[in-house]
Amino acid sequence: MKGLVLSGGKGTRLRPLTHTRAKQLIPIAGKPNLFYAVEDLVRSGITDIGVVISPETGEEVKSALGDGQRFGARFTYILQEAPLGIAHAVRTARPFLQNDPFVLYLGDNLLSGGIEHLVEEYRANRPEAIVLLTPVEDPRAFGVAVLDERGQVMRLVEKPQDPPSNLALVGVYLFGPRVHAVIENLKPSARGEYEITEAIQGLLDQGMPVVAHQVRGYWKDTGKPEDLLDGNRLVLSQLSRCIQGELSSAEVVGEVVVEAGAKVIRSTVRGPAYIGPGAVVEDGFIGPYTAIGKNAKVVSSEVEYSILMDEAEVYHLPYRLDSSILGQGVVVDGRGHNRRHTLQLVLGDRSRVKL
Ligand code: TTP
Repeated sequence: MKGLVLSGGKGTRLRPLTHTRAKQLIPIAGKPNLFYAVEDLVRSGITDIGVVISPETGEEVKSALGDGQRFGARFTYILQEAPLGIAHAVRTARPFLQNDPFVLYLGDNLLSGGIEHLVEEYRANRPEAIVLLTPVEDPRAFGVAVLDERGQVMRLVEKPQDPPSNLALVGVYLFGPRVHAVIENLKPSARGEYEITEAIQGLLDQGMPVVAHQVRGYWKDTGKPEDLLDGNRLVLSQLSRCIQGELSSAEVVGEVVVEAGAKVIRSTVRGPAYIGPGAVVEDGFIGPYTAIGKNAKVVSSEVEYSILMDEAEVYHLPYRLDSSILGQGVVVDGRGHNRRHTLQLVLGDRSRVKL
């Protein structure tokens, strides 16, 4: 069985972060989202992995992932010239996939329960597809499944106005080879994409068995800022305490990782929290569900429920930073803040500031 990880797409909902970085490489608890997907595949015994990349972010994804050795896998990079949909990405990967069964894993999805049980089910029963479902509050934004009384999928609808159930399709699927013939005959949807939901519906229309499993543990699509922060929270909530960096007059409470080379000086860190290698927290407060990237700095500032990417720096903030995502190398400097009621900002295109 092969793996196909999608790491192309536009990432419009995560601008401005995605102006300069592939969304799948945004760190969640200190590690790119994409790495969790690859690790899930490898843990289930799948090491021959195709990675779909885009012209815009492909090189960055390649250099972050490498050839696969560090994951115990072998990667084949597949360039998708334009983000024409998930089914289009599968079609682009056909020369790699050939007629092997495969797991399709969207590179911005996080799953806590792993995929071993799905791979086992496929090997035992060889259905034409296995989909993963989870109940959601507003199914109108998702592909939605209708099941029969035995739990088999009867019907799928993409982003229905009037949802027939609350069971949404999650971004992890298993397929046999028959899906390719269906994809060959797909037409673009109203939003101009080749939809994987329609490909699976095509299998159903031909009477092929499609099995549904419900998500174990949590699932998160990290395509929007609030979901990125929630994904960070979910991963951090499974953290185990591990202090390798230096603590000096520091109060570090609960499940906290302080990586080697990091320093926490005259500060409080309340877990779950992650402090990356070489990061410095000085005269500061790091609250729960915060991840601080490599060589980042938090000086005389309070940060909570936030992601600071590598080399981001905050100094003497007059307010606690909350629910925030700071990109790589961002500097927020409150030093010399002597003119009250003024702000000095240098922000890139589509930056968002909430005061
Ligand atoms: P989406 O989040 O549905 O699409 P997107 O990345 O274009 O984002 P946005 O809606 O914010 O503009 O994509 C799900 C995953 O699949 C994501 O990891 C990107 C990847 N993908 C591809 O690799 N190729 C594609 O053609 C599409 C649509 C998505």
